[in-house]
Amino acid sequence: MGTLSKLHLVLSIFTTLFFSMAKLKPVAAQQLYADSRWIVDGAGRRVKLACVNWPAHLQPLLAEGLSKLPADTIAKKIREMGFNCVRLTWALELPMNETLFSLTVAQSFQNLGLLEALVGIKSNNPSLVNLPLMEAYKFVMTSLRNNKVMVILDNHLTTPGWCCSADDGNGFFGDKYFDPQVWIQGLRKMATMATGFSNVIGMSLRNELRGPRQNVDDWYKYMQSGAETVHAANPNVLVILSGLNYDKDLSFLRNRPVSLSFTKKLVFEMHWYGFTNGQAWQSGNPNDVCGAVSKDVMGQSVFLLEQGYPLFVSEFGIDERGISVNDNRYFNCFMAMAAEFDWDSALWSLQGSYYLRQGVVRMEEYYGLFNSDWSGIRNSSYLQRISALQSPFQGPGGKPTVVHKVIFHPLTGLCILRQSPSSPLVLGPCTQSEPWSYTPQNALSLVGKGLYLQAVELGRPASLGTSLTDPGTKWEMISDSRMHLSSKAKDGSTVCLGVDARNAVVVQACNCLSKDSSCDPASQWFTLVDRTRL
Ligand SMILES: *[C@@H]1O[C@H](CO)[C@@H](O)[C@H](O)[C@H]1NC(C)=O
Ligand SMILES: *[C@@H]1O[C@H](CO)[C@@H](O)[C@H](O)[C@H]1NC(C)=O
Repeated sequence: MGTLSKLHLVLSIFTTLFFSMAKLKPVAAQQLYADSRWIVDGAGRRVKLACVNWPAHLQPLLAEGLSKLPADTIAKKIREMGFNCVRLTWALELPMNETLFSLTVAQSFQNLGLLEALVGIKSNNPSLVNLPLMEAYKFVMTSLRNNKVMVILDNHLTTPGWCCSADDGNGFFGDKYFDPQVWIQGLRKMATMATGFSNVIGMSLRNELRGPRQNVDDWYKYMQSGAETVHAANPNVLVILSGLNYDKDLSFLRNRPVSLSFTKKLVFEMHWYGFTNGQAWQSGNPNDVCGAVSKDVMGQSVFLLEQGYPLFVSEFGIDERGISVNDNRYFNCFMAMAAEFDWDSALWSLQGSYYLRQGVVRMEEYYGLFNSDWSGIRNSSYLQRISALQSPFQGPGGKPTVVHKVIFHPLTGLCILRQSPSSPLVLGPCTQSEPWSYTPQNALSLVGKGLYLQAVELGRPASLGTSLTDPGTKWEMISDSRMHLSSKAKDGSTVCLGVDARNAVVVQACNCLSKDSSCDPASQWFTLVDRTRL
């Protein structure tokens, strides 16, 4: 823990740098397409979706936080934090329940006894107070459009409230509150409404299908029909389909593709949290668990990228206080895979607190980017770390270059680099990494420089050697996670690459390779990530 916190201290040096770099270029409103596994613009250039979830599906049916900040301020903050997109949730009753959608914001909050929040809305967003709920939803979409933030409309559930459990009647087609016909009508209404918003680039048809009724045949029947409905009402949006079992399982697609009348618009989404695997991360050795879980995730959903479909990881995140061992270990493994596969994603979540969740007024969200009163960022080192995932490593567009590697460090979101030709190897922003290659002789070489990553001696900085016959220049990825970069030092001992308190890359004894669940090897985890653009 000591080393870790020092590491974070040093990392804060990068903060300023990151915030100036993390800002993505505003994406002008435009239609997007699926081109094999990439989401691209009309000119065929990749647009990597770096989204954050912004819930509007809980009982008040208003996007969270509007009692704390003006919508426009929140939208600007979303961009400042490096996101180009919001997954904006909605409850099916918003378009389909007349009693609800005719309510004004004031009435909705009064009915729930949320008078303090209503006072906050009056002062931060006065024009919202007397708007009907659907108009208030559009007001938020408009704020996002004004700030060039793309929007994905996500049908999160039917009945307004917290989601999800297996027996809440919202889980699968035919459940008590999930009438497929009402759902189809709701999709049509929302897709039609979205034709007035050029920043709506996608619709995700239904969140986290689940429960005893779930089955593959109904999934095809209703998802295909929902997709056709959305396409007919609004041909401009990507159609995003989620899997079974809380959006974990899309494995059934491997041998049975979706059949649709249109092309170039189909995207799949999946969710992956620490708790997706219960307490496995905490109770096992992180190398063993990461190896097993990555394999599992590959087979359940990530294989779709290799089949040529975009995969939108539409929920992931952790308790940002850093106090959950399970979350922390999961996230090191998640970061590695997210960089390697360079997928589109939506972080859970934006809100620091809710108006009302599960009967609790102002419930705090420890997975949220904002702090509980929305006055600032909950954890800026977390934000820096995930900024590594906001810009593309690969895909059409950018400044194309030959395929090469960067050496990514998931714990920090940084890469191994040298700040100048004479500087030692340190961690820094991946965008500043020179190209590396991993040669058939297992050397890690700086492309075109004749320099090879070298481990000379335990406890010493990693260096750059000039001859492949020198000891410590052959590297293997060991342990079940395949993330320990290991070599043989001068004295023949097996060593691993690690990071010291000042972010220097050093030669260490390999830590916690298997079995032991009490240790965390993540500071020694590195993964070789393909990069094809600068
Ligand atoms: C519509 O909303 C009202 C108020 O929440 C609720 O009592 C009613 O059951 C809902 N109707 C339907 C058809 O869901
Ligand atoms: C931010 O996250 C880091 C890493 O998990 C943790 O060590 C730190 O205490 C967190 N900071 C706050 C303010 O919660």
